[in-house]
Amino acid sequence: LRVGLLFGGNSSEHDISLLSAASVIRHLDAEKYDVFPIGITREGVWLPGIKPVEFIAAEDHMHSSQTSGQKNFETFPEALTLSIKLSTPGEGLDVVFPVLHGQNGEDGTVQGLLELADLPYVGCGIMGSALGMDKEKARLIFRSLGLPVVNSLSYRSSIWKISPERILDAVEERLGYPNFVKPASLGSSIGVSKVYDRGGLRRAIQNAVEYDHKFLVEQAINCRELECSVLGNDEPMVSAVGEVFYTGEFYDYYAKYQDERSHTVVPASISPALVEEMRFLAIQAFQALDLSGMARVDFFLERETEKIFINEVNTLPSLTNQCMYSKLCEYSGLPYTHLLDRLIELALE
Ligand code: DAL
Ligand code: MG
Repeated sequence: LRVGLLFGGNSSEHDISLLSAASVIRHLDAEKYDVFPIGITREGVWLPGIKPVEFIAAEDHMHSSQTSGQKNFETFPEALTLSIKLSTPGEGLDVVFPVLHGQNGEDGTVQGLLELADLPYVGCGIMGSALGMDKEKARLIFRSLGLPVVNSLSYRSSIWKISPERILDAVEERLGYPNFVKPASLGSSIGVSKVYDRGGLRRAIQNAVEYDHKFLVEQAINCRELECSVLGNDEPMVSAVGEVFYTGEFYDYYAKYQDERSHTVVPASISPALVEEMRFLAIQAFQALDLSGMARVDFFLERETEKIFINEVNTLPSLTNQCMYSKLCEYSGLPYTHLLDRLIELALE
């Protein structure tokens, strides 16, 4: 099979995609797949035929030779032409594996492009990707279906600019402290802050609105953080539950990717009843947002009450052989190379 592998991308999680893609390329079974990598620069320029290792050098070169950054929309026709060429029967790609995280990759945009080009692709479709990326819309749906989520409020960044004091008052009245401020549609905890008072809340929102046109303020509960892998289409399988451990205030970008003291434990040391409940909630969350292919569902387990809350879904989670999604699948009987096979199979179903 000819597999197009998209990586990099015009998103704040570009660097994480490079790590995921390098690992996926190394582990795709060479007997089965002919891999055609396509790197997307931070500016959104598509570079066909380039491997993640060569790509970093090419990007550095492009940055040093460019006086002004290219805008995303200028590269769209190029991307479309490429996709159509690659979908030509007999000579084109059989399937595309978008190993992209965050905006312009995990959010339905690339999925829409691939739909138009009539190319099967790994992972969620347009709506599932879009809902999974939008923390506000995902919570709205979870709440409406009675799935447990932590109390939160969300606002457009534009209204923050008009009525900041009203928003601060509403948060204090309805949520109290401490709480988390999050841009609505970013990943890897970029732009997220934990706050303890009005001054901190103001600064955190000021920061979040720089990243996105919507933000959430969410009650911070004293909790453990657990994760579950879901794999499949109509009848998805759910993995064991894993736990993330970190030092510091919360599981931020540094804790996720740089702090060597952070680690994951598979399976998590929790009661079988909690495992069962989480696995059931993981499927419900997956189906509530119309997901397909894969997702990692992240949970909070409140320490005092042992109540479970769905934090969020990640439709294109970190995909190195060492990350939680793969480890959970491996623990549940699907080693990494087979996981990649299965993801491709599901794309072609
Ligand atoms: N957003 C990152 C890649 C994750 O969920 O693993
Ligand atoms: Mg996320």
